[in-house]
Amino acid sequence: MVANFDQVLFETLDKDGVIESSRQMCQANGWDDHQAVVGDLKSWESMNVVTLEFKESSSLNLTENGESAVKNGSPEFILYSAVPAEGISVKEANEKFGATAFGSAKGKQWIVIDKGLVKRKQDGIEDTTKNLLVNLANLDPKGEDIKALRRAKLVEEKTLSYCKISKGEKYNIRKKECSDLTADMLKTESWKDETFKFNHLALGEIPSSGFRHPLSKVKAEFKQIFIEMGFEEMPTANFVENSFWNFDALFQPQQHPARDAHDTFFLKDPATSHDFTDDYLAKVHKVHQEGDYNSLGWRYDWKLEEAEKNILRTHTTAVSSRMLYKLAQTGFKPKKYFSIDRVFRNETLDATHLAEFHQVEGVIADVDISLSHLIGIFTEFFKRLGITDISFKPAYNPYTEPSMEIFGKHPKLGRIELGNSGLFRPEMLLPMGLPPNVRVAAWGLSLERPTMIKYELNSIRSIFGNDLNINSIKSNPICMFPTDFE
Ligand code: PHE
Repeated sequence: MVANFDQVLFETLDKDGVIESSRQMCQANGWDDHQAVVGDLKSWESMNVVTLEFKESSSLNLTENGESAVKNGSPEFILYSAVPAEGISVKEANEKFGATAFGSAKGKQWIVIDKGLVKRKQDGIEDTTKNLLVNLANLDPKGEDIKALRRAKLVEEKTLSYCKISKGEKYNIRKKECSDLTADMLKTESWKDETFKFNHLALGEIPSSGFRHPLSKVKAEFKQIFIEMGFEEMPTANFVENSFWNFDALFQPQQHPARDAHDTFFLKDPATSHDFTDDYLAKVHKVHQEGDYNSLGWRYDWKLEEAEKNILRTHTTAVSSRMLYKLAQTGFKPKKYFSIDRVFRNETLDATHLAEFHQVEGVIADVDISLSHLIGIFTEFFKRLGITDISFKPAYNPYTEPSMEIFGKHPKLGRIELGNSGLFRPEMLLPMGLPPNVRVAAWGLSLERPTMIKYELNSIRSIFGNDLNINSIKSNPICMFPTDFE
């Protein structure tokens, strides 16, 4: 950076509109590094603040010999001055001062050869060559004098490049280059009018780790849709649950096959837990064993030991039952809840089944809700995910009536079940203390299956578990679901 350069440049351009030669500008300001000046000019040019026109000029300059002639006299003058009164031999004169100097002094008739000796011919001569060199700038560049000086190698022609500087398109809105991109600039979008010292549009380096798993991307997408649709998230941070909240509270009989070790993982240590009130326990006990609230119940010998058994939760509906109980106890208000978290089942593994998977749970509690609300919610929810081809089928669930399964179309596997839903039975809701006219529509969806549909994956193992391909995770787009649902 040349000191003061910008100031001088813009003052001159403001005044004159144009600078004919960058070299003259250097001379006028005592800058000896023309190259550096051109560097500064180019950086303004790249911002369209100035335009540059590169030109060449040739000029006549003194050669090294020419410089020495200006200082010490021309070679023929030096020879002439050195000839003593008695003369010197031709040989010596030639050897000492050179043939050119000798020829030139002789040609100008400053010396003669008299009997083999070189002698001065006239006195008080003037060094015309030196005078010409001193006066070089005023000579006619095409004249005979210049030709003679060039032949004698006292002057030479040099070409020099320089540039003509004019105002550029952005001359009037020129700004200093910014060295920082600040949060403020981003907020106000003022960065668009700035020029930066660095390339602020360069893509960052791709990190070598820390890519989001496709399931977690889909999870985030699901969550976003629930939140947009007015749902609150339920706390699901307990993989271990007791059978009471996972099954009994849901009016699922204790002899139901789902409660078998073939379907459920039981815990050895701690094998049991008890975190429900006696009052609620008594109501659940009664409705299972003898019936209540106009229901005949399941009619079997209900056992507390069975309800206390710890398991890995088989569904997040266990969380829903805790939430609904709490809602009933704290005073009912209409609610929409959701959760997305892991559940565990002792399954035979295949392309669409794993022993752990993620469940997308939804609960809507309000007065007079029906199955058509559920159908409406699913249609809207899946549409927002970009899945429009869904179908429903009547189903059976111990804790819902009516119940309905939801299916989606996989591009290769055909129709696959996405989840199960229904209206919770009064035998589940009334012991909790919910008002009799409150209906609760609920569902449990798989997170993996819609993901398989959207990513066109044939096996659940390619998104969850050991077979996961790390490269496909790295190369996956941020999310596969469309953001425009029109
Ligand atoms: N819990 C059921 C399952 O795991 C899903 C479900 C939830 C069904 C709520 C009805 C109501 O498949």
